[in-house]
Amino acid sequence: MVAATVYAQQSASVWDGVYTQQQASRGKTLSSKECASCHGEALDGSGQAPPLSGADFKGNWNGQTADDLFEKIQASMPGDQPGKLSREQNADILAFLLGFNGFPAGPKELPSDAAALQKIRFEAAKPSP
Ligand code: HEC
Repeated sequence: MVAATVYAQQSASVWDGVYTQQQASRGKTLSSKECASCHGEALDGSGQAPPLSGADFKGNWNGQTADDLFEKIQASMPGDQPGKLSREQNADILAFLLGFNGFPAGPKELPSDAAALQKIRFEAAKPSP
């Protein structure tokens, strides 16, 4: 039991407040400029571009890590100019996406380095305590 407790403290999920409110509002500005033309201002998708919110979106990433989602964005988005944004900008955008999808903000910014992002699990449903 002791080992399990230590493990739980070391790895976080998106339910643990892994971004700040301020970071998410920077991300909102970036998303309006760089993502909304395809994914919609309300992140509900349009045409080929899938929604970045809601049950389907969360289901797609459930059980993966924040890094999996981050690297998908870093490597292939914006769809018409992949790689345009810096890792810091994409961390801000991911913070906004997390907030929009109902995951809570916290005291620390979402990191932009892969090793730290890999420690954050994407869990669609809030784990029961
Ligand atoms: C030119 C249109 C376009 C723009 C701009 C764009 N996307 Fe996309 N996006 C797409 C298309 C088309 C897909 C589906 C194909 C794919 O997954 O690569 C997609 C897929 C995604 C996915 C995968 C969704 C899932 O659940 O599988 C994410 C995440 C994403 N986009 C994030 C972003 C972010 C963040 C931005 C802004 C930085 C952005 N996109 C800008 C067209 C766009």
